[in-house]
Amino acid sequence: MHFAHHATSTTADILENMPIARSIYRVRIAAPAIAQRIVPGQFVMLRLSGCDDPLLGRAFALYDTVEDSEGHAVAIDIVYQVMGKMTSRLALYQPGQQVDLWGPLGNGFKVPDTDQLLMVAGGIGQTPFLALGKEYLGLCTYGQPSTYGQPTRGVSPKRNVTLCYGVRSADYLAGEKEFRAAGIDLRVASDDGSVGHHGYVTDLLASALEESDSERPQVVCCGPEAMMEAVAKICEQASVPCQVSLETPMACGIGICFSCVAKVREADGSWDYRRTCVEGPLFDAASIEW
Ligand SMILES: Cc1cc2nc3c(=O)[nH]c(=O)nc-3n(C[C@H](O)[C@H](O)[C@H](O)COP(=O)(O)OP(=O)(O)OC[C@H]3O[C@@H](n4cnc5c(N)ncnc54)[C@H](O)[C@@H]3O)c2cc1C
Ligand code: FES
Repeated sequence: MHFAHHATSTTADILENMPIARSIYRVRIAAPAIAQRIVPGQFVMLRLSGCDDPLLGRAFALYDTVEDSEGHAVAIDIVYQVMGKMTSRLALYQPGQQVDLWGPLGNGFKVPDTDQLLMVAGGIGQTPFLALGKEYLGLCTYGQPSTYGQPTRGVSPKRNVTLCYGVRSADYLAGEKEFRAAGIDLRVASDDGSVGHHGYVTDLLASALEESDSERPQVVCCGPEAMMEAVAKICEQASVPCQVSLETPMACGIGICFSCVAKVREADGSWDYRRTCVEGPLFDAASIEW
């Protein structure tokens, strides 16, 4: 199934654009048609309206949706790190300025059927996990029925959810309050020891798995490729299912350009290139040729 078939394209107003950590911003965009259908793990492509530089859109995961007083999803939040041309310019945008968006794109997370969900993030890889954690805990529903006929996702009963979040240093920690307010057990690791565990986020995952008394924990993971590969190995050794969200650079986001391919193993052990924009970005970690 190619999820780009459900996408819509819109020019939308920025409602808010604020720094939430070092070089990291949260932008709120009025895009009801996307907000009502997008589910955790899906993404949008974004361009700066009326600006041809950069010409191509950039991919950003759903951070969360925003509801009006009647409970209708009317806007989306994206959390982005200033990296290059697009994000440096976006950081200067003010409420009332516009962006071009297309989405929702990608497959999104499978609704985790487990009593213990372990989310593992490195750097800006934490962005898909607020919405997933809230959905899993039954605090929010995403992907409401719409005129486009996309189904509503089920809400899991209340369970345990932990976010193991690795950052370079304390000042890059983004969204801490929101994760904690949602009831997510947040465990932080930092490269320089300025916050949380001094070391790798994979150490936190290994401890969480060791402590777990669940018979069927599940892991979801997003971050730098080396970290995702390490997480995939830990999960394989522990026989724990793991979904990874690949952040391969993307040019079109809708399956046309093949700039986003990853090597994915087939059932017979061979591998083939898969477009992460339409067949991902979520894949079973065990199927990835790292
Ligand atoms: C499905 C998906 C979801 C994403 N979600 C988010 C998000 O929620 N928040 C966020 O901040 N970013 C996210 N990204 C990454 C974001 O799209 C890129 O960082 C984007 O290139 C930034 O645009 P830019 O013009 O500022 O930087 P660019 O000028 O495009 O690039 C700056 C530098 O980053 C490198 N780069 C570009 N894309 C990637 C990539 N995907 N992985 C590793 N290096 C890259 C370039 O080679 C260059 O060195 C996501 C990417 C994907 C594919
Ligand atoms: S980004 Fe163009 S095919 Fe995936």
